[in-house]
Amino acid sequence: MGSDFIRKYFIDDIDNEGGVMEKQLKLKNGMTVIIREMTGEDAEASLRFFQSLEEEDKRYLRMDVGNQDAIQHRIKSMQSGQVKRLVAVMKKEIIADGALEMEARAWKKHVAEIRLIINRKYQRLGLGKLLARELYLLAVSEKVEDIVAKIMKPQTGAIKLFEKLGFKQDAVLKDYVRDIGGEKQDLVVMRCNVKKMFQELEELTELSDWQHMR
Ligand SMILES: CC(C)(COP(=O)(O)OP(=O)(O)OC[C@H]1O[C@@H](n2cnc3c(N)ncnc32)[C@H](O)[C@@H]1OP(=O)(O)O)[C@@H](O)C(=O)NCCC(=O)NCCS
Repeated sequence: MGSDFIRKYFIDDIDNEGGVMEKQLKLKNGMTVIIREMTGEDAEASLRFFQSLEEEDKRYLRMDVGNQDAIQHRIKSMQSGQVKRLVAVMKKEIIADGALEMEARAWKKHVAEIRLIINRKYQRLGLGKLLARELYLLAVSEKVEDIVAKIMKPQTGAIKLFEKLGFKQDAVLKDYVRDIGGEKQDLVVMRCNVKKMFQELEELTELSDWQHMR
């Protein structure tokens, strides 16, 4: 693991006209998607993306993100470096959003939280895994050691995805959070060690779909 691994996976990075690093990747259905860092210019597209999400997918987000204030807050947290944010873009529209929230306080500086959300139309096409992989690479470059995912219990698809990526359940906090509808939900805390994760990803690459998605 380390620089060799990063070189291997960043090999097809393209520096586009705006100087933002981006990757062109293929989904399971053969469609091409661009994954790149989000920029301030994506504000309107990001708002459209969050407003277009299915109610069921929005229900378990930690706050209502479909308004201008929320988008401005996201852009600020990105610009301050507290959150690394990637978007998946198809035909100039954002179809997925992935974030790695860095912990600023000293006692948790080795930890970052991952969040993913994919437009319903593009779910189960491998995009969640692709975005997660890019976020791991960012985590490595930020010297993050552990990645944490906090998921409400009904988000069974997310729990399956993170298990598949090597996350283990650390704790279930009973009735700890409320969903957007105000209903109390158990919060599942999952965690993975970045080094271990890369080993799993290497195995996945050899075994299956990572390679042919590229
Ligand atoms: C969870 C989520 C991010 C998964 O994204 P995705 O692009 O559909 O995931 P992938 O296609 O990469 O799935 C990879 C694997 O995860 C598992 N998985 C993903 N979604 C699943 C679902 N709904 N049910 C069961 N397993 C699921 C499967 O094992 C899948 O592999 P397979 O399709 O070959 O069986 C997406 O469903 C989503 O945005 N949900 C709403 C928001 C959310 O729950 N976010 C997570 C909180 S951090």
